[in-house]
Amino acid sequence: MPKPIRKAVFPVAGLGTRFLPATKAVPKEMLPVVDRPLIDYAVAEAAAAGVTHMIFVTAKGKSALQNHLDRHVELEAVLRTKGKTAELERLAAVVPDGVRCSVEIQTAPLGLGHAVWCARRIVGDEPFAVILPDDVVMAGTGCLAQMIARYGATGGNLLAVQDVPPERTDRYGILDVGNDEDWPGGVAEVRGLVEKPAPADAPSTLSIIGRYILQPEIFSVLENGERGAGGEIQLTDAIAALIGRQPVHGYRFEGVRFDCGDRQGWLSANVAFALQRPDLEGIRDKLRRLIESD
Ligand code: G1P
Repeated sequence: MPKPIRKAVFPVAGLGTRFLPATKAVPKEMLPVVDRPLIDYAVAEAAAAGVTHMIFVTAKGKSALQNHLDRHVELEAVLRTKGKTAELERLAAVVPDGVRCSVEIQTAPLGLGHAVWCARRIVGDEPFAVILPDDVVMAGTGCLAQMIARYGATGGNLLAVQDVPPERTDRYGILDVGNDEDWPGGVAEVRGLVEKPAPADAPSTLSIIGRYILQPEIFSVLENGERGAGGEIQLTDAIAALIGRQPVHGYRFEGVRFDCGDRQGWLSANVAFALQRPDLEGIRDKLRRLIESD
């Protein structure tokens, strides 16, 4: 049995330029999907998968995110006085009981690989998960819990993947899996990985979405600081360097993924999650009327 996954790294240092001006003063991870900020979906998914130590790699100027993860004792006191127990419970659920949070600052925007490397001291010598909160996955069993279930058999490094339209390969880490027919249990061995290849150069349309299980040896690869696509230190390149030394597998997860780093993806997530909420029942009719009158 591989060592259990107790820690997760959340790279949350990005500027969120695609959402300006909304993200001028509000970190993009604080954008709500219905009434919960994006970061809450990621934290809840990690906690449901058994993660007990969450490491947020953030940047200067994103204090709202840290405040959100911290307790707000004065607000709790006001809610208690007013007998607002449902609201208190919703606050308490932001960071579930038994979960420890650490914050690490990424001092320069050198890429996703660099952000993960910033967490090396807190992660230490054990396997860990990486969750990109921009990618929200709607699923019965959370995406990370699905991966951890497979990881028991694969060990090594495991990447959540899905097919994307061929013209979009230049937005993702793309897998070369050799034989694309054989995915027992949704898992296949990865032969190669390329970060954001042009469609003509892409080995497939299978793209990494923001969920990873990684071995601590990734840190010694990232240590080299080698620059890849976009002049950044890429996590994809570091994982690629482990192929042949450690198992690297892709996992076709079950569920719907929303790219909430993109306006259309974020809007769709809001609609999809709202449609699932019994307390927002009226939204279905409102949407139908809006579409009909369009
Ligand atoms: C990052 C990764 C990429 C991955 C993507 C998933 O890219 O570098 O390999 O496919 O997340 O969302 P970014 O979205 O930060 O450009």
